[in-house]
Amino acid sequence: MEIHGFFFLFFLIFTLLLPSQSAAISPCASRTFSSNRVFSTCAALPHLSASLHWTLDPSTTLLSLAFAAPAPSDGWLAWAVNPTADGMIGSQTLIAFRGGPSGAVVVKTYNITSYGPVKEGPIGIDVSDVAGEYVGSEMRIFAKVKLARGTTKVNGVWQVGESVADGVPAKHAFAADNLAAKGVVDLVKGVSVGGGGGNSVLRKKNIHGVLNAVSWGILLPLGAIIARYLKTFKSADPAWFYLHVSCQLIGYAVGVAGWATGLNLGSKSKGIQYTTHRNIGITLFALGTVQLFALFLRPNKDHKYRLYWNIYHHSVGYTVIVLGVVNVFKGLQILQPLHKWKEAYIVVICILAGIAVLLEVVTWIIVLRRKSDKSSGAHDGANGANGRRGVQQPLSA
Ligand SMILES: *[C@@H]1O[C@H](CO)[C@@H](O)[C@H](O)[C@H]1NC(C)=O
Repeated sequence: MEIHGFFFLFFLIFTLLLPSQSAAISPCASRTFSSNRVFSTCAALPHLSASLHWTLDPSTTLLSLAFAAPAPSDGWLAWAVNPTADGMIGSQTLIAFRGGPSGAVVVKTYNITSYGPVKEGPIGIDVSDVAGEYVGSEMRIFAKVKLARGTTKVNGVWQVGESVADGVPAKHAFAADNLAAKGVVDLVKGVSVGGGGGNSVLRKKNIHGVLNAVSWGILLPLGAIIARYLKTFKSADPAWFYLHVSCQLIGYAVGVAGWATGLNLGSKSKGIQYTTHRNIGITLFALGTVQLFALFLRPNKDHKYRLYWNIYHHSVGYTVIVLGVVNVFKGLQILQPLHKWKEAYIVVICILAGIAVLLEVVTWIIVLRRKSDKSSGAHDGANGANGRRGVQQPLSA
């Protein structure tokens, strides 16, 4: 019954979370630069109406670039390459502002190591011919960057700030556009990868989030609900079992895919480690795999070891559900998607919990009624195997 609904929800969430491919607002305008600078390629970057023009000389791996974005005349503009991570920390940054004589644009270098005030200093990338200009309402940075051999993509980070105090660029705004201003630039294909909604890492994180929220966070709890409550209804007898097994197998398969995307993200994020999230994820994979064996090791209903199988299957199962939901929330905390995603997940979990509570009550009513039927109607042959099972172990599902 709910299966189709959940697949629908899955695809709905999946499609909505994928960044839209719509073009950025500001296309690569036909700019002309001072000193007859020309570049072979231009990409409109997905945030802050920024664009990057460049020429990459493959033989010398020298990247000549111009970075441009609208900025207040007394503000600043930053372009950075982050060799180690995909965010601000670790960025090897060029910042332009009007700090020279009679308002000339100066460009300085900053090794960003914290979210505190920036400090000018040497940076870990080889830059030369650094310059800046302010044209119209647009700030521009020029530089030549010597790339490592074979480099075809760089992690770009960029930013616009409102003001400069005593020669130090002041903190930028924290609007969504500011926080999202980073992405991988493919220097060969000439595109900012994953334009529109962010960057390829963000996109991978979103896919990771959706896969895991749907599998560990929704399908597995749903499968447990099916097993626990549907078996009370005699008419659903073999059906509940197949539904339960299919739901958990699909959940496990999607979950393993999500888990693999998580490992991949973890190996790429050298700078930052989300230890708890990662450890819970590894535990979940291990327990989920142990649970998979339950299917093959299941003794017959009347087998003397069945009790132990029940204990193992149920304790591992409930642990997986609790840890799964906890880790979805941990992941939401890390990914910080728009609030509506967290709210949507909370709504789904509350609906599942509501269904579980309702069915728990219904189950007890049915079980108690069967019990009283049985005690009043002495030798009542109608209470077959199903009925007896229902009476004796209403909670062992
Ligand atoms: C930038 O700062 C980090 C952290 O303090 C340091 O490890 C690194 O060597 C610095 N890079 C340069 C070029 O100074």
